[in-house]
Formats: sequence, C-alpha cells, structure tokens
Amino acid sequence: MELQKPRGTRDFLFDEMKERKFVENTMRKVFETYGYQEIKTPIFEDLALFTLKSGEGIIEEIYHFQDKGGRDLALRPELTAPVARIYLNQLQKAPRPIKMYYFGSCFRYERPQAGRFRQFWQFGCELIGGKSPDCEAEIIALAAHCLEELKLEDYQIHLGNLGILRGILTQDGVSADQQDQVMAIIDKGEVKELEKLLEELKLNEESKNILLELIGLQGHREVIPVVQELVKNYPDATKSMEELEELLVMLEAFGFTGYTVNLGIARGLDYYTGTVFEIYVEGLGAQKQISGGGTYNLIEIFGGEKVESTGFAFGFDRVMESLKIQKTQPALKSRVEVFVAPISTETKLKAFEIAQKLRKNNITTDVELVGRKLKKILSFADNSGAKFVVLVGARDLEEGKITLKDMESGDQEQIPIKNITSVLLDRIKTSE
Ligand code: HAM
Repeated sequence: MELQKPRGTRDFLFDEMKERKFVENTMRKVFETYGYQEIKTPIFEDLALFTLKSGEGIIEEIYHFQDKGGRDLALRPELTAPVARIYLNQLQKAPRPIKMYYFGSCFRYERPQAGRFRQFWQFGCELIGGKSPDCEAEIIALAAHCLEELKLEDYQIHLGNLGILRGILTQDGVSADQQDQVMAIIDKGEVKELEKLLEELKLNEESKNILLELIGLQGHREVIPVVQELVKNYPDATKSMEELEELLVMLEAFGFTGYTVNLGIARGLDYYTGTVFEIYVEGLGAQKQISGGGTYNLIEIFGGEKVESTGFAFGFDRVMESLKIQKTQPALKSRVEVFVAPISTETKLKAFEIAQKLRKNNITTDVELVGRKLKKILSFADNSGAKFVVLVGARDLEEGKITLKDMESGDQEQIPIKNITSVLLDRIKTSE
C-alpha cells in the first residue's frame, strides 16, 4: 500500500520551513510592536461554535466528527469564533481593549487548487473592546505594516462597510437572516443572482438600484460624496458612511493611504457588521485574497454583552506564495555554521566534547555521526553550508590544539582548544 498525504494537505521540507519561520517571526514581531499578545486555542472545538454564525459557505466546508463520547466536534475552519469563546470564558473582566494574536492551522473541506487547501494556516488578530473606527484604522495599518516589513510590494487593500448595505436593507424590512443571504451573494460577486434575490425580497426599486450601484463603486476618497448622495435618505446607512469617512481620515494619521474604497466587499462569514477589508495580490489568480477581516458582533451572538470587536487574518500560505511570485523571499541561513570532524576514531569522543562546547555558546554545530572518512566528511560539511570545519586529530590534541578549516578560502590554522569558542564567534561575526 502506498501511503499518501490527504488531499489538500502539504508537507513542508527544510528550506520551505525556514522561509515560513522567517515570515512567521516577522509577523510576530510586528503584531507585538502594536501591543498584541499571542494566544493558542484547540485545533478542534464544539461544532456549535462554528455553526451559530459563520455562514452557509463555511458550514458546508466544516470537517466535523463525533468523538467516542458522542460529542459533535469540528476541526476549526477559522479562529475568530474560538477567540470570542476565550473572551467569554476567561477575559470578560480583563482591561480593554484586549489585543490578541494567533498563528495556527485551519481546516476547510474545499476543492483544492492553487492557493486553496484543506489544511491552511492563518496569522491573525482580534481587538476586543475598543472603539470603531479607531481600532479598524490601527488594524489596517498593522496589516499594511506586516506586508511592508516582508517587502511585499504589489498588493491592494480594499475597504468596505457592511453597515451601509445593511442599513438600506434594514430600512426596507429585510430580516437579518435574509441580509446574510444577500451578503453571501455579494461576496461571490454574482450580480444576476443578487438582482433575483432582491426581487424575491421585495426590495423597493429605488433601494435595489442604490444597492447595485453601491456594490459597484470603487475608488479613493472621491467615492465618499457619491455614496453620501446615494444613501442620503437612509439614516442608518448614512451613519455607517460617516464612520467610513472618519476611518479614512484616521488611516492618514496612521500613515496608510494606499487603500481602495470598495463597497462590494461583503466577506464570506456572517458575523461582520461594520467596516470590512480584504487584501489582494493580483498575481495569485483566483485565490488572490491574502487577508480579510473587519468589525463583527460575535460575542453578543454567543450570549455575552455587546462588545465591539475587530480583527483580521492573513492566509499565511497565500502570503508565502505572494512573496515567491514577487521574488521577495528571505535569504536562508545555512543548516549549521560549524562542523566538527574527528580525523580518526580515537578522537571521536573529543570531537563530541568540542561540539557540545560550541553549541552551549550558541554556535550551530554538527558533528560526525556516521563514522565517515575525512574526505567524505568535508564534502558533507560543505553541503550543509558549514563555514568552518574543526578538524580533531590525535597529533594536534597532544599539543592541546585543533585545526580550523575555513571552508570558503580553504585556509587551515592550528588553534588552542581553550580559544576555540572565542575564535569561532569572532570569525562567524566577521563572515556575516
Ligand atoms: P477568511 O477570509 O475566511 O476570514 O480567511 C482569512 C484568510 O485565510 C483569507 O483571506 C485567505 O487568504 C485564507 N484562506 C481562507 N481559506 C483558505 C484555504 N482554503 N486555503 C488557503 N487559504 C485560505 C476569516 O477566517 C476571519 N476569521 C478573519 C477575521 C479575523 N475576521 C475578524 N477577525
């Protein structure tokens, strides 16, 4: 039987893991610069956590199962609902706003294709108990800051506001559940289907036309007066519009003006209420959305008080792919800096001792574990990217020395064993 990994999953080997680690650490650093603290939640949760308000699309894609005790569980398709649960379980009394970030795998039973997997990773954050649009502005600036730090150049941040669309629908008596249906179709970009649904919902002709016009609007600040005019007879929508306008002013203060206002953004999850945003990288093709988020109301839906919450998540795998296509991958560090090579079997124990001494001084070190002859060891060390090889020979040892070989120049010199750490630390530093 040939053992294969499940469809839609991937293995990551050494270089890819180094690149992913670099990106993970860069994001970690930026999130922490904004005062976020990391949390971890279980990979599986009660199924109900994700079926209450995630939306049709996600529910169909959930990996769910019953455990041996007959409990209905699900592999998490995303992390916002688990974070809302943590808040309700443990953080209701914590000083606000609470800033949390996470990095973890998510599971969705989707048809696998380029950039779409059944197991994928999200790096994201939730900001609970702040005020809109202040929080939204900071979070969007944080997302842009991460991409800047990763030197990703070609991306677009699109901003929308669901309060504007929902305000119109509410005024025409469309229920919250029906609104979710409308949002799902807008998210898929299916205009014909949307028109049909709006007919069925008996939306009045003027509202229908305004809604269709709004979702097609895209631009910078110049679209604001156009929206203002369109929604002037809808007080709730006008209030959300003013919030969007305020957000744009704040974004400027946060130093980010590279956005596109796009009122066609509806998001695929049902819990969003106000500002929403998505980040696209065109070169990725159909799965170009590398990040999504916005303001949502999940805690109240889960039975808590109303707490304003905003967040977003990077699709980590898509960020990795974007860096690859834009050729902005990080330079990779070699596996080890130093290789310790016993020249004969009788110096093996001394070689182990020296390797340990170097490792305890934070020098990444490998030591011969296969019992090869020197020529083969040198070739293996070279392939490992080692800059230096410590040759441990019986004659040198009698004089309390080893021979240090510089793999780049080929130069060799004898060094007293007691000086080896300081010499290597010095050489490694100058070779960087
Ligand atoms: P989402 O848009 O469903 O939002 O997912 C966030 C990101 O995960 C997407 O923008 C995309 O890059 C990536 N992604 C989604 N599905 C896949 C897949 N099958 N394969 C690879 N990447 C994928 C959320 O999940 C929200 N919880 C984000 C959020 C946080 N909103 C507020 N706080």
